[in-house]
Amino acid sequence: MRPDERDKFLSSDKLGRPLHDLRISVTDKCNFRCPYCMPAEKYHENYDFLKGEQLLGFGEITRLARIYTSLGVRKVRLTGGEPLLRQGLANLIEELCAIEEVEDIALTTNGSLLENKVEVLAAAGLDRVTVSLDSVDDAVFGNMTGGRECLPDVLAGIFAAQRAGLAPVKVNAVVMRGNNEEGVLELLNFFRGTGIIVRLVEFMDVGTINQWSRDRIVPYTELLERINRRWPLESLEKNYAGEVANRYRYKDGQGEVGFINSITQPFCTSCSRARLSADGKMYSCLFAAEGLDLRTPLRKGATDAEIRSLMVGKWIGRDDRYSMDRAAARQAKKGDRIEMFYIGG
Ligand code: GTP
Ligand code: 5AD
Ligand code: SF4
Ligand code: SF4
Repeated sequence: MRPDERDKFLSSDKLGRPLHDLRISVTDKCNFRCPYCMPAEKYHENYDFLKGEQLLGFGEITRLARIYTSLGVRKVRLTGGEPLLRQGLANLIEELCAIEEVEDIALTTNGSLLENKVEVLAAAGLDRVTVSLDSVDDAVFGNMTGGRECLPDVLAGIFAAQRAGLAPVKVNAVVMRGNNEEGVLELLNFFRGTGIIVRLVEFMDVGTINQWSRDRIVPYTELLERINRRWPLESLEKNYAGEVANRYRYKDGQGEVGFINSITQPFCTSCSRARLSADGKMYSCLFAAEGLDLRTPLRKGATDAEIRSLMVGKWIGRDDRYSMDRAAARQAKKGDRIEMFYIGG
């Protein structure tokens, strides 16, 4: 067996899934307080977020990312909390960009700080941006962000990203029954014809604090029907195997819309994502309770080979399929699941 073949084998998990994507959270802080992620009552000013030495430095992140590429990682996504709160993020992007194997570097942001930073980020080598935006109605936007009034900044950030060439810019909207579902058509209408791709995300039961219940999700079939009645749609092939969104195009040529149906159409069978928290823990699932501490060995002087072997151990022992086993998995409570702002979606 050739070494590269062996590596492929080594990095497949217990369900035969290879490792391809790495999602790096660079901070657990956020300047929004979306009630489904960081409710303001709990995450007040004095909340003990990660800081100082607890956070991986850029050199440490880059070193880990480089080792991950030897296990198959080709796509990197930077997340938070809100990643643009991390000072000097462009420097990290530049370092990641210098890793030859990394083919795609994307950023997930709430967009509020994007407009002024995006050109520097693009110049540093960022390829793509995804902005989380649940509504283009000021009042609903306020409700969904913990009272923030910066919708114009977010919109300016989205278009600035497009001008900076980070295309196609994507907008992710979590749709919640009774909150923003009525505004979905308005949101789509706003971006129709702009080249920006809106993706509607089913509200998930990540973490422990978002008071998820099945009746708060709006199943994608319902949204699809509603949208199709207003603007007929036709489905598109996935861009790549394992893409989480189901893609559609407006038949009138006004663009594309995506559906991320993590509840009604779970995609665990093709899940090739590892996650790295801002304090250096590796998670193999969004719904995990425990991560593998990589920061300690890193700081104790472990070699690349030693760290790689820890990562391999975690990946080959992986049998996560939370979304496909939701009912049973919710019952088998194994400690508190990590929160979305900690691991970044
Ligand atoms: P592209 O590379 O642009 O295709 O992005 P992506 O498909 O990786 O999606 P993105 O990071 O924008 O994720 C969109 C949303 O999908 C997230 O906010 C989550 O709600 C959901 N999501 C992404 N990855 C996972 C996953 O591994 N498991 C589950 N259950 N949901 C996920
Ligand atoms: N369900 C689905 N998506 C969520 N996000 C945060 N919490 C949830 C949830 N419970 C999304 C955000 C953002 C990304 C980081 O994760 O809206 O798009
Ligand atoms: Fe911040 Fe995103 Fe969480 Fe909202 S969903 S509080 S923007 S990390
Ligand atoms: Fe992957 Fe876990 Fe999401 Fe399933 S629930 S797609 S295993 S992160």
